[in-house]
Amino acid sequence: MCGIVAYVGHQKAQPIVIKGLKRLEYRGYDSAGISFFNNDTLFTYKTKGKVSDLEEILNGEVSDATIGMGHTRWATHGVPNNVNAHPQASNSGNLVVVHNGIIENYASLKEELISRGFEFHSDTDTEVLVNLIEDVQKKEKVKLGKAVQIALSQVVGAYAIVVFDKRKPNELIAARLGSPLAIGVGENEFFVASDATPFVEYTKNVIYLEEEHLAIIRRDREVRIRKIKNDKLIKPYIEELKLSLENIQKGGYDHFMLKEIFEQPKAIKDTLRGRLLSNEGIITLSSLREHENKFLKARRILIVACGTSWHAGLVAEYMIEDYTRIPVEVEYASEFRYRNPIIFPDDIVIAISQSGETADTIAAINIAKEKGAFVYGICNVVGSTISRITDTGCYTHAGPEIGVASTKAFTTQITVVSLIALYLGKANGTLSRFQYQESVTELDNLPTKVESILSLKSYIEEVAHSFKRAKNCIYLGRGYNFPVALEGALKLKEISYIHAEGYPAAEMKHGPIALIDKEMPVVVIATKKGYYEKVVSNIQEIKSREGRIIAIVSEGDTQVKELADYCIEIPESSESFAAILSTIPLQLLSYYIAVHRNCNVDQPRNLAKSVTVE
Ligand code: G6P
Repeated sequence: MCGIVAYVGHQKAQPIVIKGLKRLEYRGYDSAGISFFNNDTLFTYKTKGKVSDLEEILNGEVSDATIGMGHTRWATHGVPNNVNAHPQASNSGNLVVVHNGIIENYASLKEELISRGFEFHSDTDTEVLVNLIEDVQKKEKVKLGKAVQIALSQVVGAYAIVVFDKRKPNELIAARLGSPLAIGVGENEFFVASDATPFVEYTKNVIYLEEEHLAIIRRDREVRIRKIKNDKLIKPYIEELKLSLENIQKGGYDHFMLKEIFEQPKAIKDTLRGRLLSNEGIITLSSLREHENKFLKARRILIVACGTSWHAGLVAEYMIEDYTRIPVEVEYASEFRYRNPIIFPDDIVIAISQSGETADTIAAINIAKEKGAFVYGICNVVGSTISRITDTGCYTHAGPEIGVASTKAFTTQITVVSLIALYLGKANGTLSRFQYQESVTELDNLPTKVESILSLKSYIEEVAHSFKRAKNCIYLGRGYNFPVALEGALKLKEISYIHAEGYPAAEMKHGPIALIDKEMPVVVIATKKGYYEKVVSNIQEIKSREGRIIAIVSEGDTQVKELADYCIEIPESSESFAAILSTIPLQLLSYYIAVHRNCNVDQPRNLAKSVTVE
């Protein structure tokens, strides 16, 4: 949450920072601000609203400044307004800070600073931090980097910050704990950002700052990195950035979400590439091969995740238990971390996260590690915190997902889970050779099937049109399609603001059926394999109460067609892989409903893609 960009070099900083902020708006977009330093003067512009609103304030003028920083905010402390927007300045006006995270002990620090004569103008924890740094500078008479280091050692919470002191016009200080920061190393120029997208066209050299590290970044010098706690100098590890500009542009689509929905055949192929040799019936996952015994001897597998990734975790539970007979439990990371869970040393914990930065999932991993469990990460963002703190893991390789509502991340997470379940099922003999080979072939064919579902775009858009005025919606599914119902409902509420509930179809009788009348759209996933007949009975029950039925059915279905108002036909598949296929029309349905309602699809209100606060 919140995006940070900073630049020091020889180019004009303002356009680089503004463009970078736009790429980071997925992290929050309720206010934006920029500071740059030119001709001995520090300029700061801030506003409630989006980066485009900030641009309007800048009114087309471009400063010659070659050092600057910016911020796009997802409010934690203080409502979104101009004063609470970042950068936040210190009382003297010498220091400015951009911050992503939460300073938990800000109230006590603030009191102390007030008692020493500091004044506060905003409601933010960041203004406390910048004044704390100033206070340390005054008291200790140390250099900026040292002052930041001392101040941070008094802070409880999470942060990724960039600090600038106008008396040091060639220097930026960056530091992190719990929120990500990447440093782009160019030719005599440096970029700092919450992820690498703001500098992808300028340099392919990136340093991912580690937890509790502080970087001193000076124009024309090498980056110096120190540990905040013990001041130890660390040799920077420069990695090659494997991201291209094309990956992060809309490529002709109206929205990133639509682009990402349509990228799914390729994304699934990329997830499978080099890992699935279907003709030979081989799955190669080095992370599993190296730790095969641990998995096969595991007492249980615990899955921790949040949001859409948690829904992928539910599919994983069904699939891993089904294929391997290893017991699986799935938990919201936010609950797991605080409820004193039982974790045995021979448990395996699988953390699923698109961003690899979700604060609750990171905390759950840390607890699992403390209790001695082996932790496996499934992440999309390469080099993310979760990919680094887990014992091993597997990337989804879906490519950057920018739309706030997760789409291709979900289907590729399930793809990885399928590989894991099949690999382990074969290794421990719980899957017959026939079942294994059949599933491997089916997995290989998934991209083609997804492609054919995407060709139904126009029909789904029509269906969406009929439901654009709905106020509520129920999603029902059984077995593997139950998590899909949850995910379908989440997609709808996230981007169209229609209240939606996902339910196991049979649970309808225990409550939701009371809501059904002729105004209520009910999306039912009724694919052929699994509990088809039972779901058909549920559809009958809805029909008798005049609910409006949108059904996702297998190609050639006749029974449901007679009952439903709209039927979206998808290729037939085994029950487990239906989870991927039936998700696709639900993504498109939510997308078009949101578009018909004129909602901001890629940046829905109050949400952020990367939730780095608990
Ligand atoms: C946010 C996003 C969701 C995502 C969830 C978990 O709420 O808006 O799309 O599913 O975080 O994020 P993660 O990156 O851990 O998968």
